[in-house]
Amino acid sequence: MYKINDNYLKLQGSYLFSTIGKKVAEYSLANPEKSIIRLGIGDVTQPLAPAIIEALHSAVDEMGKAETFRGYAPELGYEFLRNAIAKNDYEDRGADIQADEIFVSDGAKSDSGNIQEIFSLDNRVAVCDPVYPVYLDANVMAGRTGEFNKGTERFDNVVYMPCREENGFVPELPKEPADLIYLCFPNNPTGSAITKAQLQEWVDYANRTGAVIIYDAAYEAYISEAEVPHTIFECEGARTCAIELKSFSKNAGFTGTRLGYTVIPKDLKCGGVSLHSLWARRHGTKYNGAPYIIQKAGEAVYSEAGKRQLKEQVAYYMNNAKIIKEGLKETGYTVYGGVNAPYIWLKTPDKTTSWEFFDYLLERANVVGTPGSGFGPSGEGYFRLTAFGSYENTVAAMERIKKL
Ligand code: MLT
Repeated sequence: MYKINDNYLKLQGSYLFSTIGKKVAEYSLANPEKSIIRLGIGDVTQPLAPAIIEALHSAVDEMGKAETFRGYAPELGYEFLRNAIAKNDYEDRGADIQADEIFVSDGAKSDSGNIQEIFSLDNRVAVCDPVYPVYLDANVMAGRTGEFNKGTERFDNVVYMPCREENGFVPELPKEPADLIYLCFPNNPTGSAITKAQLQEWVDYANRTGAVIIYDAAYEAYISEAEVPHTIFECEGARTCAIELKSFSKNAGFTGTRLGYTVIPKDLKCGGVSLHSLWARRHGTKYNGAPYIIQKAGEAVYSEAGKRQLKEQVAYYMNNAKIIKEGLKETGYTVYGGVNAPYIWLKTPDKTTSWEFFDYLLERANVVGTPGSGFGPSGEGYFRLTAFGSYENTVAAMERIKKL
């Protein structure tokens, strides 16, 4: 008789964005006349930039001719893309990362879920609270956590690092031992950022205690302030304690096209074993590489035209962020984020819970957002709105909210 992986039974409900999707679909079915504005999941709405479309077309044509057709991609990614990433995302920022330390993948969500596989189940995981659910759920599925404790609303054997108003939504160094530390900055969901000096403290802490930092920099393109680092590898000593996850979803609109990468420096070693070689082994065994066509589109992100067009796209979304933030402030809400990230984190009014506010906004304004408590117990009393909608929908959503 077979047995299931019963760690899955420890998971709470369904994936946050599936739950929201279901609730909105039910509401929509019952109220077909209502026009719903979705500012919930952080999914982009603007079309791929012309430079990317051009690269896609030409790569498709290459696949149609025997002389330029490509089969399996190199497991770790095509060199043209890894070189472009190394130059633009690292060398140009003074960060020492080589092309052969970059692993191209189908996106940061898969990598952030899969990276835990190269670590022992004995490791203690530390996550921010609130947190992007994938880091925690992937470790629950693997069996690296205890049971879910309904009283504390937390999994046993996990270090939760609260991110609240009092600490500017940047966690303090853990007081208990932690081995795998997940950090995401600019942050999803709170929209907060970390300064280089603050991040340096984390790098020093990890090197001192023998922890590894899994640094999710998916929202890096939205950084507007000079003191905010674009990569953890700007910090001294990060090569011996950090892994970085990057995505093409938010900076270049690849949520549907899928492309991302993970950086594992060759200096990152555990008792003489290189984590780079473990991840290369894992990639080689379980993954056949992101499609050629998509990697060519990724290369276009770093072309002069691509960079210019994407800067405009990021500015478009950040203008939405400003509209939301200022609109909410005028209406009397307490609001955070929206300066270095495309997320606005607002305090729910009159002590309403995050889910009560979700229902209120859906039913009264037909606007969908994300309840803060869906990201962890410290998110209770907060609510996330994304700036990834269209300009028109963002303006319309704010008008509806102001009228409530
Ligand atoms: C979010 O809304 O938090 C993100 O879109 C989810 C993701 O990037 O997977």
